[in-house]
Amino acid sequence: MPELKNSEVIERTVTYVKGKLSGEGSGHDWWHVYRVWKMAKTIAIKYSCNLLVVELAALLHDIADHKFHNGDTSIGPKVAKEWLSSLKVPEEIQEHVAQIIQDLSFKGAHVKTPMQSIEGEIVQDADRLDAIGAIGIARAFAYGGHASRELYNPEVPPSLHDSFDAYKNDKGHTINHFYEKLFLLKDRLNTDVAKEIAIERHQFMKEYVDRFLQEWEGEL
Ligand code: ADP
Ligand code: NI
Repeated sequence: MPELKNSEVIERTVTYVKGKLSGEGSGHDWWHVYRVWKMAKTIAIKYSCNLLVVELAALLHDIADHKFHNGDTSIGPKVAKEWLSSLKVPEEIQEHVAQIIQDLSFKGAHVKTPMQSIEGEIVQDADRLDAIGAIGIARAFAYGGHASRELYNPEVPPSLHDSFDAYKNDKGHTINHFYEKLFLLKDRLNTDVAKEIAIERHQFMKEYVDRFLQEWEGEL
């Protein structure tokens, strides 16, 4: 097979990811990937970077998420690499995309998640922006329902996890997820473009949770 043009690699990858993730019900569906892809491109045009790597990593970042594979973080990068290899994408691009997917995820309040390239920083920011704001709220409750979590339980306080294992194994209610991850994300972004976008999304989410807690106690 002759080498494909970049646009063909992207097109085929879109079709592949759509096929795999369409109709998924936990907030990790094709439309999450679509938003991350678009946002990653919006950020990427402001930086000098390899756009093909950004787009492929954004499109493939949730192709086999550890949350749905018994916590196995090696499966996502592996599946992505196999796909890119089947398209005969150059080895170095396969490796770079796999590395980004490997490093991307949030792993707990006290666990650092550094990215190794500007392309990785951009995709991580785009993924994190989709976890906050109006869409972030919707995704958190969608995931909570999917994982049979309570909406809220005032008897279970949040915990700021020291390890990825502790974070992964926590089965707490969804309001805790705001304190354990979502409210922390604005200070865990890499690019100035993403930090700017995060300001209003963060504020909106804060107001939402404040109202939620007041309504819970019959105060509003
Ligand atoms: P990451 O790889 O950083 O976990 P994802 O793109 O896989 O990012 O999406 C994570 C999103 O899934 C969260 O932002 C949230 O919307 C949802 N999610 C994950 N864990 C929980 C949880 N315990 N409670 C509620 N939502 C969760
Ligand atoms: Ni994601």
